[in-house]
Amino acid sequence: MTYEYETDDQLERSTNQWMAVGAGLLIVMALVFPFYRWYEPGARDESREAQAASLAEEGGNIWQFNCTACHGLNGDGGTAPALNSEQYLQSATDEQTRNLVAVGVPGSQMSAYSLDFGGPLTSEQIRAVAAYIRSWEDEAPDRPDWRDMIGG
Ligand code: HEC
Repeated sequence: MTYEYETDDQLERSTNQWMAVGAGLLIVMALVFPFYRWYEPGARDESREAQAASLAEEGGNIWQFNCTACHGLNGDGGTAPALNSEQYLQSATDEQTRNLVAVGVPGSQMSAYSLDFGGPLTSEQIRAVAAYIRSWEDEAPDRPDWRDMIGG
């Protein structure tokens, strides 16, 4: 019969060693955890922002091909309302923009853009174009006349 530990001394030394390792790990975790808690939400915010930015970028192309003719290159209006205005951006949520773009405004030049309603855009593309419109908000000018249309 063999014993792993010949004497109590050896057993005690080994136990102490493992306890030291355990205490060391505990300290490492205690230090890492707050750091993680501090870092993680920031990382999430960053990835959310990056996602919104890339969606808006895609939306910019869609805007250019589908919307500028009436709403102006930078959304500053023309034969359609100026969406690049405090007044529009503060009054409409992205969801409202998406819904309106999807179904259009019956009886006006604003047609339905959703594939579901005979338009050319997928719901992902409509999400992108709404994100693009939202990206103007920080610098949107004050334009009480945003709904006045040329020739309308
Ligand atoms: C052929 C011209 C035309 C094109 C192209 C066009 N729109 Fe419009 N849009 C209009 C007009 C006109 C209105 C105003 C309708 C009304 O309320 O009488 C309007 C209204 C809107 C509104 C609502 C503004 C409000 O009064 O609350 C949004 C949002 C909008 N358009 C987004 C878009 C987007 C996004 C595109 C491109 C995918 C687009 N439009 C393309 C003519 C156009």
